[in-house]
Amino acid sequence: MAAPAQILLENVSHVYRPVRGREVLALDQVSLQVANREFVALLGPSGCGKSTLLYLIGGFLPVEAGSITVDGKKVTGPGPDRGIVFQHFALFPWKTVRGNILYGLERQGMPKAEREKRAQDFIELVGLHGFEDSYPSQLSGGMKQRTAIARTLAFDPAILLMDEPFGALDAQTRGLMQAELMRIFQRTPKTVIFVTHDVQEAVYLADRVAVMSARPGRIKTIVDTKFDKKAENIFKERVFVEKVDEIWHLVREEAIKAQGRRST
Ligand SMILES: Nc1ncnc2c1ncn2[C@@H]1O[C@H](COP(=O)(O)OP(=O)(O)OP(=O)(O)O)[C@@H](O)[C@H]1O
Ligand SMILES: [Mg+2]
Repeated sequence: MAAPAQILLENVSHVYRPVRGREVLALDQVSLQVANREFVALLGPSGCGKSTLLYLIGGFLPVEAGSITVDGKKVTGPGPDRGIVFQHFALFPWKTVRGNILYGLERQGMPKAEREKRAQDFIELVGLHGFEDSYPSQLSGGMKQRTAIARTLAFDPAILLMDEPFGALDAQTRGLMQAELMRIFQRTPKTVIFVTHDVQEAVYLADRVAVMSARPGRIKTIVDTKFDKKAENIFKERVFVEKVDEIWHLVREEAIKAQGRRST
């Protein structure tokens, strides 16, 4: 029997009702099950509702239609079981790199010496050694992003919601961070929902890839991408290339639909 879902979405819809401007149906009847310790990547054209879906699971937006449960409990707000890396970083501008990372650990009640050691470990891990005392305004986009990743990983939530966490990184740093993330998950397995526009990254990291349709977002297809990825040249292996191709076509179809709509 399949493992019971840790994250369960049933017929979740979401409408944005801005004070000015028209209503937007961002998500339309999305259902998804994510098992404990499963890694699901979420792909889809810009504006299809990926961030909205993460906000809802994270408890940052109210679930108004359908239901979301985590470990059998309805999501009614944010909680320490779910860590989110926001697409636009959301760092505290008045805190340094170290201060941003320490914040969650302080709130967890971790003793001072332990949290300082842990913050330092994660600063090293994301390659920000020497920038501990810098403020977000003094950092590049990629450095802000790495700070946001360190902040979330440091408090070790059981569920990680990551919204294009490597989007602002150069190819080399991105590769290093992907490998580091894999190592962390092998040490302390987590349940992950990971939004990306990078099909290779999705196939490399995820057990399953969910492709969303153009707005209003629905889950169009889910592709199984769980296979042995330890080979040194995995990106060139046939099984890998075929999965990338298959998913690329699915995403492309939706991107074309989204484009068509924009120009009409
Ligand atoms: N606060 C808001 N008010 C009104 N509409 C919104 C708001 N936030 C998002 N939307 C709309 O909801 C839809 C989904 O947005 P969302 O940010 O979830 O998309 P996305 O898939 O994350 O896109 P991207 O890949 O560009 O990050 C879009 O059409 C967007 O314009
Ligand atoms: Mg987004």
